[in-house]
Amino acid sequence: MRMVDLIIKKRNKESLTESEINWIINGYTEGKIPDYQVASLAMAICFQDMNVDERFYLTNAIVNSGDAIDLSNITGKTVDKHSTGGVGDKTTLALGPLVASCNVKLAKMSGRGLGHTGGTLDKLESIPGFNIELSEDDFIKQVNDIGIAVISQTKEICPADKKLYALRDVTGTVESIPLIAASVMSKKIASGAETIVLDVKVGSGAFMKDLEGAKELANAMVKIGKKFNRNISALITNMEEPLGEAVGNSLEVIEAIETLKGNGPREFEDLVLNLGAHILVNAGVAESIDTAIGILKTQIDNHEALNKFKEFIKAQGGNELVVNNYDLLPKAKYVYEVKANKTGYIKAINATAVGNYAMMLGAGRETKDSVIDLAVGLKIKKKIADYINEDSIIGEIHSNFELDEIKIEQFRQLFQTSDEKVIKTPLILGVVK
Ligand code: URA
Repeated sequence: MRMVDLIIKKRNKESLTESEINWIINGYTEGKIPDYQVASLAMAICFQDMNVDERFYLTNAIVNSGDAIDLSNITGKTVDKHSTGGVGDKTTLALGPLVASCNVKLAKMSGRGLGHTGGTLDKLESIPGFNIELSEDDFIKQVNDIGIAVISQTKEICPADKKLYALRDVTGTVESIPLIAASVMSKKIASGAETIVLDVKVGSGAFMKDLEGAKELANAMVKIGKKFNRNISALITNMEEPLGEAVGNSLEVIEAIETLKGNGPREFEDLVLNLGAHILVNAGVAESIDTAIGILKTQIDNHEALNKFKEFIKAQGGNELVVNNYDLLPKAKYVYEVKANKTGYIKAINATAVGNYAMMLGAGRETKDSVIDLAVGLKIKKKIADYINEDSIIGEIHSNFELDEIKIEQFRQLFQTSDEKVIKTPLILGVVK
């Protein structure tokens, strides 16, 4: 086989076979095929797409490039969720303990944040003592014992994806449905869970900016998951504005805890309940979404979900007292309450810009090696469609350095208003099964 022939084949809109795709991924992982040829193929895929079989073969080849997590020693139904990433997305922190309190097993490997989106591991590490580095045996044991563990990657999962994603990032080939779908799904399949729920975000703060694209991506990923015999569905959810109020590590932990106490922002709670309901239905624990939502609400009302969060924190070495004493979490030196200096209905809050503002405070990483400040971040107190006037507190800035009026004004500028009433887009924009 010659790589140039396969590039030309794809450029001419023909389909690649399973053995051709395996040959490419193996050759690239082993360093036998150079970056420039793989970049050229990736660009051809961006223009010519891949059919359902090619997408499956690509995903499988990426899975086989590394180790897979063996969850077969876990008794019960293993579940996983994945979000395509957003601003203020603390969903795993609330959803994990909530579903684990309903007799499903969440064995999750998570990542750190980069750029304007945060990572679950950073958020968990704002809990004093919380250890994200468990051995695989301890990981499996904890999931068997209490139903939940969240750790950083132990084995080398999908090395081909790591290499390919880095190449796509610098060659303008990230935005391709088959390439994104294979990249995301390979990591989910290698992580081993039988039941998977995907949260595909769409809007200004998301990777997919329009609904059509998000639907296409969700469909592509669900189809791949089904070919691997996973119980899978995807929710397409709105990321036109940050999720909930809090953006920043310890602030998001507090919001997740409040949600498990039944006091979370309504939309965030809705998202958690809906994702949780799909997990319970896909895992065969509940018969319908409505029944599942009822079960989940009961687990919040009777404090089982909150107790599970405490158990989870304690099992991973963290101080579970944070649940009732937020002073134990990292706290910023300065808190600025910001009032609007205009009147009107909020029509937009650019979520990416909010994420970038939080990153400027130190909450997010500009590069892989940046050290982040777990205490700092933002609270977005007014959301799209809310009416504000000069006296309205639109948000809070939690900072470890003093901010001048220019910086505070930059925060105000994140909110765009209109004199006309604004109709809010629903949080859940579609379900793909
Ligand atoms: N996230 C991934 O993991 N892969 C992509 O290709 C895009 C987003």
